[in-house]
Amino acid sequence: MTTATAEKQMPKTMPYKRVLLKMSGEVLMGEKEFGLDSNTVNRVARDIKQVADMGIEVCVSVGAGNIFRGVSGAAEGMDRTQADYMGMLGIVINALALQSALEALKVETRVMSAIPMSAICEPYIRRKAMRHMEKGRVVIFAAGTGNPYFTSDTTAALRASEMNCNAILKGTKVDGVYTADPKKDPSAKRFDSISYMDVLTKDLRVMDATAISLARENNIPIVIFNVREEGNFARVMKGEGTFTTVTSK
Ligand code: GTP
Repeated sequence: MTTATAEKQMPKTMPYKRVLLKMSGEVLMGEKEFGLDSNTVNRVARDIKQVADMGIEVCVSVGAGNIFRGVSGAAEGMDRTQADYMGMLGIVINALALQSALEALKVETRVMSAIPMSAICEPYIRRKAMRHMEKGRVVIFAAGTGNPYFTSDTTAALRASEMNCNAILKGTKVDGVYTADPKKDPSAKRFDSISYMDVLTKDLRVMDATAISLARENNIPIVIFNVREEGNFARVMKGEGTFTTVTSK
């Protein structure tokens, strides 16, 4: 089903028309110690296609922890700005891998880089990115904000704000935000929803403080869900399964 035809069939209850999916680079390495695991990248691509086929406009922001792990020895003792630029290049690698996997599934995709590298992908231009999304293309943001000292979480909140996204879907290895680490504390409870302020004051580490503040300022809900389970992204978009929503309430 094409995204254009799917849009007409979108259930009226679907709360989100346009979302940004944020994943750490580690998600893409699967069980490996670093780098990319092709089965995992393909699975993530299938998950994105499933949501795009529901008529939801999807853009993606990914980290680079999987690439950076492989070079962290070399990066030790390095200037922070230099290491951050290496991280931004790592994001480009992840973005290109994801683009290939999506295109193999016939999902139209555009990679847009904050650092222009026109031989490889398009430069990030907000209005152009908007047009791509309106046409049902999955836009993958690469190279962070193009600046050191900004995390991939902050990039996600920034791009989601610029794209007028209805939500940030933060894909992690847990199915929401808990009162304590559920692996260490069996009595830990998952929040169905929690406020931006509580996340900040309780230091719950959902995303870094800059990202939370940006989402809060622009009133964009953050949905924390387990991205490692196939089909979960679509499930959460339908309001099914378990997840935590961070909002102003
Ligand atoms: P429309 O304007 O809606 O037609 O968008 P489009 O992206 O299909 O058109 P465009 O002619 O801009 O791009 C055609 C192809 O070239 C797409 O795959 C783009 O991703 C790619 N492309 C566009 N600009 C650049 C660039 O600066 N660098 C690289 N490497 N590819 C680009």
